[in-house]
Amino acid sequence: MELCYHLLTIHILFCLSSITLAANLFNSKTDASALLSFKSHISSDPFGVLSSWNESLHHCQWQGVLCGKHHPDRVTALLLDSKQLTGSISPSLANLTFLQRISLSDNQFHGIIPVEIGYLNRLRFLNLSMNFIEGIIPSTLGNCSNLQVIALRYNNLGGTIPPNLVQCKRLQAIDAGYNFLTGGIPSELGHIPQLRFLALHVNNLTGSIPSTLGNLSSLMILGLHQNNFEGHIPDSLSNLTSLLGSV
Ligand SMILES: *[C@@H]1O[C@H](CO)[C@@H](O)[C@H](O)[C@H]1NC(C)=O
Ligand SMILES: *[C@@H]1O[C@H](CO)[C@@H](O)[C@H](O)[C@H]1NC(C)=O
Ligand SMILES: *[C@@H]1O[C@H](CO)[C@@H](O)[C@H](O)[C@H]1NC(C)=O
Ligand SMILES: *[C@@H]1O[C@H](CO)[C@@H](O)[C@H](O)[C@H]1NC(C)=O
Ligand SMILES: *[C@@H]1O[C@H](CO)[C@@H](O)[C@H](O)[C@H]1NC(C)=O
Ligand SMILES: *[C@@H]1O[C@H](CO)[C@@H](O)[C@H](O)[C@H]1NC(C)=O
Ligand SMILES: *[C@@H]1O[C@H](CO)[C@@H](O)[C@H](O)[C@H]1NC(C)=O
Repeated sequence: MELCYHLLTIHILFCLSSITLAANLFNSKTDASALLSFKSHISSDPFGVLSSWNESLHHCQWQGVLCGKHHPDRVTALLLDSKQLTGSISPSLANLTFLQRISLSDNQFHGIIPVEIGYLNRLRFLNLSMNFIEGIIPSTLGNCSNLQVIALRYNNLGGTIPPNLVQCKRLQAIDAGYNFLTGGIPSELGHIPQLRFLALHVNNLTGSIPSTLGNLSSLMILGLHQNNFEGHIPDSLSNLTSLLGSV
């Protein structure tokens, strides 16, 4: 009886570890194939940065790719700033479910921000500044409950600022200056407790500046110039005691 019990335990343990192993193998292949899809959306790579992205190297050794300490096969960061890359951003990035940082600034990315990026619930840092990205800021970004930084400065983004960014309770910086954003500043932005940096300057925003911004007690930098606001500056902004200045 006891032997049976032991055998059963060993069997269960073996089964469990095979399942974990299979899951890791599966996810590792998923990460590599998601990265290869990202690469396939790049039409020009003058420095050959992505030539290391080939099957003779493990995907965690590909240039610009970082993997986790605890999950060594899973991609946690994609860091490809200033590489003169031309192309669009593949929606398959959303399959990199361990991603915490995406930094693709200062390249020539065009096309839209895939809505699927909002499904990355470990994402903390997104920098797509200085590209030619168009379309809108997807409201799915409000699903990234760990997001701390959204940097989209100097792109061709239009549409309105999604009010549900307020769901990102950890947001510290929103930088969307130098785009073509329209509509008003959502009053909800005044309820992001840790927001320290809000730059919406040089856009086409309209309406009045919401008085709720006076609630941003951590705000240090506020950039609103060169828009089409109307009305006066709300008195509540005098409550921004952490404010150091504008961008
Ligand atoms: C991403 O995941 C989806 C859903 O699991 C799958 O259909 C798709 O093929 C994957 N894409 C890549 C490039 O791995
Ligand atoms: C794969 O990448 C390695 C490392 O950059 C490089 O030495 C090798 O030439 C590449 N192989 C192919 C087939 O491109
Ligand atoms: C985003 O990238 C731009 C260009 O590389 C850089 O100037 C900026 O500081 C970055 N933003 C953040 C929040 O790191
Ligand atoms: C994202 O959030 C919206 C509500 O804002 C919700 O309807 C949707 O199911 C969420 N999607 C994911 C993938 O979490
Ligand atoms: C800003 O909006 C106004 C009114 O909607 C429009 O006439 C103008 O062309 C817009 N400017 C830019 C730079 O998008
Ligand atoms: C936020 O600001 C509004 C308008 O200034 C004010 O009525 C409200 O009490 C504030 N809320 C919090 C939580 O501070
Ligand atoms: C500043 O904040 C305090 C406390 O939340 C509030 O009572 C007061 O009305 C605010 N001042 C202005 C000018 O909104």
